[in-house]
Amino acid sequence: MRMMIPSCVMDGAQAPFGTSRMRWTVQVVLVLLTCPVSCIADSTTEEDPWPLQHSALGSDVLLRCAVPAEAAGVEWRVNGTSVATALDVLMATEDGLVLPNASLAQEGDYSCHHPASGEALRRIRLRLGLPPGKPAIECWAISYPQTVNCTWSLPADVHLDTEFIATYRHGVWAKGGETECVQPAAGASSCSINDVQLFSITPYVLNITAVNPVGTATSLFHFIVEHIIRPDPPEDLQVSAIPSESKKLLLEWKPPGSWPLPKYFPLKYLIRYTRQGTGSPRTIGPYEQTSFILTGLRPGAIYHVQVAAKDLSDYGEYSAWSPQASGTPWKRR
Ligand SMILES: *[C@@H]1O[C@H](CO)[C@@H](O)[C@H](O)[C@H]1NC(C)=O
Ligand SMILES: *[C@@H]1O[C@H](CO)[C@@H](O)[C@H](O)[C@H]1NC(C)=O
Ligand SMILES: *[C@@H]1O[C@H](CO)[C@@H](O)[C@H](O)[C@H]1NC(C)=O
Ligand SMILES: *[C@@H]1O[C@H](CO)[C@@H](O)[C@H](O)[C@H]1NC(C)=O
Repeated sequence: MRMMIPSCVMDGAQAPFGTSRMRWTVQVVLVLLTCPVSCIADSTTEEDPWPLQHSALGSDVLLRCAVPAEAAGVEWRVNGTSVATALDVLMATEDGLVLPNASLAQEGDYSCHHPASGEALRRIRLRLGLPPGKPAIECWAISYPQTVNCTWSLPADVHLDTEFIATYRHGVWAKGGETECVQPAAGASSCSINDVQLFSITPYVLNITAVNPVGTATSLFHFIVEHIIRPDPPEDLQVSAIPSESKKLLLEWKPPGSWPLPKYFPLKYLIRYTRQGTGSPRTIGPYEQTSFILTGLRPGAIYHVQVAAKDLSDYGEYSAWSPQASGTPWKRR
């Protein structure tokens, strides 16, 4: 700044004032008044980002640039190259450049120039994409009764950053009762509801609204908490031989770690097992305990086992099957 002050002041402040002290005072005031605008403007022009224009893929995109009064037209450049050579399909109009049925290959940095001086009249960074389709929503109470976890996805890639507004209301008629469904990070496609009211016959309504620069789409998901209970699969499944028992196997497992209160909201379990080399598995249960002894097995054979869990009161659905664990009954040596 110090270096710039003299040149800035010299332009306008060489007035015929009496004393040098007075001139100095006037100059300081002028520096304060004029410098923020006139001295700094030059240095920032180069760093201005190109203004963004977002348009829909497949639409007729207009890049605006008015033809100067004295000129017959303007010159368009894309990515620094004159447009006539860079694009085969385009129409120059009075309002600007039209890209009919715009495609992804036409994204780029467009600039419109004065035909005689080459001066840039307008710069546009064009980004193309699609409006979002309706999000497909799934919600499950994997941590009943504490949390409802919801996830969603868009039906197709939209090529543009898309944000999601996630809110819910309890009851279709609740007025002004929109509560945020908390996303773990901005732009995430999941959220969770932590304050759920149990055994309510009024449905919850989750509203996921996808927003990007070319459009928005909303999906609603109605649910009753007890209908969407689905635990995660049981964990730590162990299959062990029982000493002296050549036709039995001991199975032990733990409730899923995400199920917060197994003492108060117990689970029941299905067991599915297959003898290696045979076709279809056998499914038995449900059982309320977290261990079981398989009997009547073939001595020396390998058995593959999985378990699944469901809320004991029979609300909701069974979990997915746990990862498989295997074992062979005890063998005499
Ligand atoms: C627009 O372009 C796409 C391919 O980019 C093409 O499939 C479609 O037929 C075109 N539509 C029109 C109306 O020209
Ligand atoms: C401009 O450059 C970008 C990035 O290299 C490229 O993706 C785009 O297709 C170019 N646009 C045109 C119209 O050539
Ligand atoms: C479900 O929501 C809880 C609470 O926000 C979170 O800690 C947990 O990671 C979520 N689970 C899944 C599978 O997204
Ligand atoms: C869904 O949420 C969006 C964004 O907050 C809002 O504009 C819209 O009115 C909501 N729709 C319904 C049916 O609640």
